[in-house]
Amino acid sequence: MTLGLAGKKASCVAVWLSMALLPRKKKRKDPGLPGASHSRAGDGPLTVAKFSEVGIFLVERKMGSSRRSFLTQLARKKGFRVEERMSESVTHVVSENNSGDEVLELLDKQSGICRAALVDITWFTESMGAGKPLEVENRHRLQEALKILAENAQLCENEGRYLAFTRASSILKSLPYCVTKMDDLQGIPSLGEHCKRVIKDILEGGICREVEELIQNERYQTLKRFTSIFGVGVKTADKWYREGLRTLHELRASKILLTKEQEAGLLYYEDLIVPVTRTEADSITKIVEGAVHRFLPAAVIKLTGGFRRGKEYGHDVDFLITHQEEGKEQGLLYQVINWMAAQGMILYDDITDNKDQKWKNKEPEIFDSFAKCFLIFKLQKDVVNVLRPNTAGDDDSLAANKAKEIGRGGHAETCERATCAAVKVKDWKAVRVDLVVAPFSQYAYALLGWTGSQLFERDLRRYAKHFKHMSLSSHSLFDNEQVGRN
Ligand code: CTP
Ligand code: MN
Ligand code: MN
Repeated sequence: MTLGLAGKKASCVAVWLSMALLPRKKKRKDPGLPGASHSRAGDGPLTVAKFSEVGIFLVERKMGSSRRSFLTQLARKKGFRVEERMSESVTHVVSENNSGDEVLELLDKQSGICRAALVDITWFTESMGAGKPLEVENRHRLQEALKILAENAQLCENEGRYLAFTRASSILKSLPYCVTKMDDLQGIPSLGEHCKRVIKDILEGGICREVEELIQNERYQTLKRFTSIFGVGVKTADKWYREGLRTLHELRASKILLTKEQEAGLLYYEDLIVPVTRTEADSITKIVEGAVHRFLPAAVIKLTGGFRRGKEYGHDVDFLITHQEEGKEQGLLYQVINWMAAQGMILYDDITDNKDQKWKNKEPEIFDSFAKCFLIFKLQKDVVNVLRPNTAGDDDSLAANKAKEIGRGGHAETCERATCAAVKVKDWKAVRVDLVVAPFSQYAYALLGWTGSQLFERDLRRYAKHFKHMSLSSHSLFDNEQVGRN
């Protein structure tokens, strides 16, 4: 698989703020509901905040207004109090992709600052996942710093460094305790000098200069932006950067020839960078099940990827499909995609047939050769959302016009019709979906391989090879010594 960063968001290093400019006021409580406060979730009804002691302020800069309002609604639904403005009652300032200094500067311009923890988006998503506000731990700061360094190594195509930083970050994530001093790291394998230096800086001073500088680095920022477009890898992003392009606006205005995939990626960019929620994944699961069962009623459809690992959000939704009677699954993918396209559910698709030559010579431990489809799914929003006024009307008509040129035949018309009917209301969201079809005899390996995470799969295969002398892929597991003897 590619090392694309599509849809994945890294965030800034958090610094613990103790801006005791003003003494903290006692929180006002609703007399009718002890311990609870009210806030308005978007245009929705008045909701009760379960965790009134925690007040979240989301920094819009670099996060963008649509993502900010999405996260605001999400948090409020989960019982968190989210404040529109910085105030004394804010306890957690959440920002994404800003350096600590930048956030400080922004906050300085806001009035009524008291004591607040400056945290990155990881604290937010983990708290949403846990359904309660988590303690602000060093681990968020440390993991994030290492992730940023990993990402940068990836953007520099330095795989060794990418792996080292990614491993270090995931080791810290899995520790059953919180690292507060360097001694806590004793005995932990695969932590190199560089990682230790970063950790030390953060433990001692709250920030790591190297990471802070990186976040400000123009190449890092630009490549990160470009690789977050579906269909754009590091090489392409780097080429555009070297040609002088910096923003999506410039890219859109340029004469650069884009692939169909990249055109679709740009067209649905705003939707695709918004994380997919579990609820959305569940809705798509039902739709995919319905579509597959039309053609093969006994087919098995399994939600894989991050959602199978229990994640609350993903950059896409992954499915593995099989049928107990081997052979029945053949041709299924085309039937399903064609049917879904006819229903207007597909904005873009790229089917890879297992007979495709392009997969034949690839390393089976890295690239599997199952029939698969990478698609952009058109997910209809629920009735409540449909009634909400549209904020992305321009996007919608742009999408309709562009869709005539890309995607599949027949679909452009559907999209156009949808736009005519909904000039003011965008009642759908573009969501990345991966469909993979495996023969039943390889299903177990495919399920393991497509559950991820990417690092886990990689390390599992490495372990099989070096410690067990076995070869593991999404197709099979076999003993290299046995094969040698035959
Ligand atoms: N995978 C693969 N071959 C590909 C793409 C993905 O084998 N061409 C496997 C990888 O093992 C990966 C898993 O499928 O871990 C899921 O991939 P992906 O959707 O990229 O990552 P997730 O872990 O699901 O993360 P996210 O929630 O952000 O989607
Ligand atoms: Mn996924
Ligand atoms: Mn995927």
